[in-house]
Amino acid sequence: MRNQTVLSRREWLENSMFAAAAASALPANFTWARESNAPSEILRVAVIGVNGQGGSHLSSLAKRPGCEVVAICDVDTEVGQKKGVDRIAKETGKSPKFYQDIRKLLEDKEVDAVSIAVPNHWHALAATWAMEAGKDVYVEKPVSHNVREGRILVETARRTGRICQTGTQCRSQKGTIDAIQWIHEGKIGEVKLARGLCYKPRGSIGARGSYQPPKSVDYDLWCGPAPKDPLTRQRLHYDWHWVWPTGNGDLGNQGIHQMDIARWGLNVNDIGKRVFGFGGRVGYVDAADTPNTEVCVHDYGNKTLLFEVRGLKTGDLKGAKVGVIFEGTEWYVVLTSYTSGSAFDTNGKKVMSFNGGGDHHGNWIKAVRSRKKEDLNADILEGHLSSALCHLGNISVRLGEQVEVGQIASRLDQLPASEATRETLARVLNHLGENKLGKDTMLSLGKNLAIDPVKEVFTGEGAAEANPYLFREYRKGFEILKG
Ligand SMILES: NC(=O)c1ccc[n+]([C@@H]2O[C@H](COP(=O)([O-])OP(=O)(O)OC[C@H]3O[C@@H](n4cnc5c(N)ncnc54)[C@H](O)[C@@H]3O)[C@@H](O)[C@H]2O)c1
Repeated sequence: MRNQTVLSRREWLENSMFAAAAASALPANFTWARESNAPSEILRVAVIGVNGQGGSHLSSLAKRPGCEVVAICDVDTEVGQKKGVDRIAKETGKSPKFYQDIRKLLEDKEVDAVSIAVPNHWHALAATWAMEAGKDVYVEKPVSHNVREGRILVETARRTGRICQTGTQCRSQKGTIDAIQWIHEGKIGEVKLARGLCYKPRGSIGARGSYQPPKSVDYDLWCGPAPKDPLTRQRLHYDWHWVWPTGNGDLGNQGIHQMDIARWGLNVNDIGKRVFGFGGRVGYVDAADTPNTEVCVHDYGNKTLLFEVRGLKTGDLKGAKVGVIFEGTEWYVVLTSYTSGSAFDTNGKKVMSFNGGGDHHGNWIKAVRSRKKEDLNADILEGHLSSALCHLGNISVRLGEQVEVGQIASRLDQLPASEATRETLARVLNHLGENKLGKDTMLSLGKNLAIDPVKEVFTGEGAAEANPYLFREYRKGFEILKG
């Protein structure tokens, strides 16, 4: 078992660079509007990480009435300056402050709340540090890089009384909300199977080699809690998704949105009883670790969440590529985007449409003002549970045995696997064939792992090997607090 580093709150407060700010962390009933609740009060926000998705956070926040982006934080000074400070100065006429180091940003008393769009390995740490420092938080999906830190995030939000929204914006989109409500009302009958789909072809990220991070990046800070290993891929930014120390593959990239919708629609509110998966990175060799072909089966006893990732060229399933399919005992629902979907009868005739967007940051700000986590559409607990499902699926696959994909069908007898799992495997075989990959393609046949959904640990066979993957070793100076 790997060594796992957790500081107590007291130890952290003593050691923290921003101990003073944390020690004065505001009480649970603190209202961000410092002297009153008047809607005219300005919420002063910092956006952390502005290369890609952080740009969308800026678009959503910068010109919003009642809100001001007062600071930008990015470990890449060039990105932070050009895509953050210069942009906001141009758009609003007011130049925000710039911080390269999140710890310095969190000492800034002018900042009420932070919107976090950094790589996955930093999410839970940045969000817990921010809440300890008295800031409300919007944190991108997946909210965690491993299961345990997701739970710590929830515990920290509860203990500090901070408002913490997960960046799964589908939770605020009318089309998705209406569809889920319809399903929960029993309109398609009983739903025992939800299929999450991430059919998103992506190419090679280039050969493994020895590369230098951009000169404008503080690489030590960029690595943060992850090991400070030499860079072995061409692109530091974004491609961190595809290596285990920092990313969670497409399951934890695009897939987490659909995983979250699938779990929401199934109405299951823990991390399930068992997990099993299979997959691999096939079709090319590059600098990445994570599967581009993956199936995960989350067993909830009487319900199943079956997730499929396809990173090679592919068609759709029932009209969906990045979407969710809910199989009811009467009808079925297919969600084909974040904002739209349809219900069909058993003959495939459309019986209902769902459409409409929403304002996820707006929902967060509403809750920041009301101080009620119940006002959030995607409270951190929802983010934790859905992110955890992605991690569990990946753990099963990472611990698997390499077998020829053509051999997996006979091996499923030993699980035993459901009809839906077998049918999915048959489609995977077909899909690989369409990409000129034969039955001798090697995939990892994952471990079938039992879960204690209360303790959020693996139990029984394989648990000793799998449990260390629920947490990580945090690099010195970047340890996560106990919740
Ligand atoms: N909700 C959505 O639809 C959606 C869409 C895209 C991305 N995302 C999420 O947004 C996050 C960022 O994705 P991206 O594509 O923008 O990645 P990216 O690598 O392009 O950008 C991340 C930025 O964060 C900076 N950074 C890294 N560590 C930092 C730290 N400790 N403090 C400050 N800055 C730091 C990097 O320098 C970089 O500029 C990811 O978690 C991703 O899953 C969400």
